[in-house]
Amino acid sequence: MKALTQRLAEVRAEIDERLAVLTEPPDDHRAKTYRALNYTALAGGKRVRPLLFYCACEVCGGDPRRFIDVACAIELVHTASLVLDDLPAMDDASLRRGRPTVHTVYDEAAAILAAVGGLMQAFELIAACGAIRGRRGLSAKLSLELSRAVGRDGMIAGQQLDLDATGSRLGMEELEFIHAAKTGVLFIATARMGALCAGARDFELEALEAYAKNLGLAFQIADDLLDVTASAEELGKDVGKDVAKPTFAHLFGLEASRAVAHELVETSQAALGLLRRDTTVLSQLAAFVLERRR
Ligand code: IPE
Ligand code: IPE
Ligand code: MG
Ligand code: MG
Ligand code: MG
Repeated sequence: MKALTQRLAEVRAEIDERLAVLTEPPDDHRAKTYRALNYTALAGGKRVRPLLFYCACEVCGGDPRRFIDVACAIELVHTASLVLDDLPAMDDASLRRGRPTVHTVYDEAAAILAAVGGLMQAFELIAACGAIRGRRGLSAKLSLELSRAVGRDGMIAGQQLDLDATGSRLGMEELEFIHAAKTGVLFIATARMGALCAGARDFELEALEAYAKNLGLAFQIADDLLDVTASAEELGKDVGKDVAKPTFAHLFGLEASRAVAHELVETSQAALGLLRRDTTVLSQLAAFVLERRR
């Protein structure tokens, strides 16, 4: 895991530094919404999605640092989704990234506005990225990937179904669909966006998409397992939030769920075999999904 640890630390440092600039509260009437987003954007997220973006770009021969604002855009979308996910009307969480949730420190309205502001800023960043502007059609392609992933056919749908399924028992297929929509599609879009920035060929896009699809699903199953097996201190977020939710852990038990996640990680790693450059970090990232305690 040494390659992963090192690369993740490098990417995290770069992203943290850039996000600090991008979300810095101005000294005027706009300060509140900036502060509310900055508060959680810099609270110590793992930066798994930016790392995936970087690696996908590199493995297709690109230089991801030129597109750092695209990686930040994805992380902002993810962060905004967490702010919304934690609201009283949704998961009603009190702890996120080791800190009290945004709506408990500010208020619900400020949290909603900060999240929507972060979502908007993401698309502004893509439109304004200098390295993209010179590449015909790339800006539109990236916006399309990201908006589809988080829109009503993607994360929004997944989050709505997740809430509506509270208290009910679902089958494996329905549960997989919810996981894929609320979490998996953003992983897929992230990998594809990294590849598109590198000018990837079709076989590279396809391999990365298969990798990310399985990775995202494994990531959410692992997240559901951690809700049952980890402490709030370890996770930096509330635990036991999913008691009434149909999760893999509840429907199939811990062992069987771990086995499913393990299988997904192996399938994800196998897809990397289709690529021609070094995929060590991506392979270790998939393994990390099963090992993580945060
Ligand atoms: C949490 O994502 C939400 C899920 C999709 C399970 P992460 O575990 O990547 O959260 P951060 O960004 O590290 O806080
Ligand atoms: C949330 O899933 C996925 C999102 C789209 C934010 P969870 O509700 O399980 O995420 P956590 O456990 O609160 O991070
Ligand atoms: Mg949720
Ligand atoms: Mg939640
Ligand atoms: Mg969870």
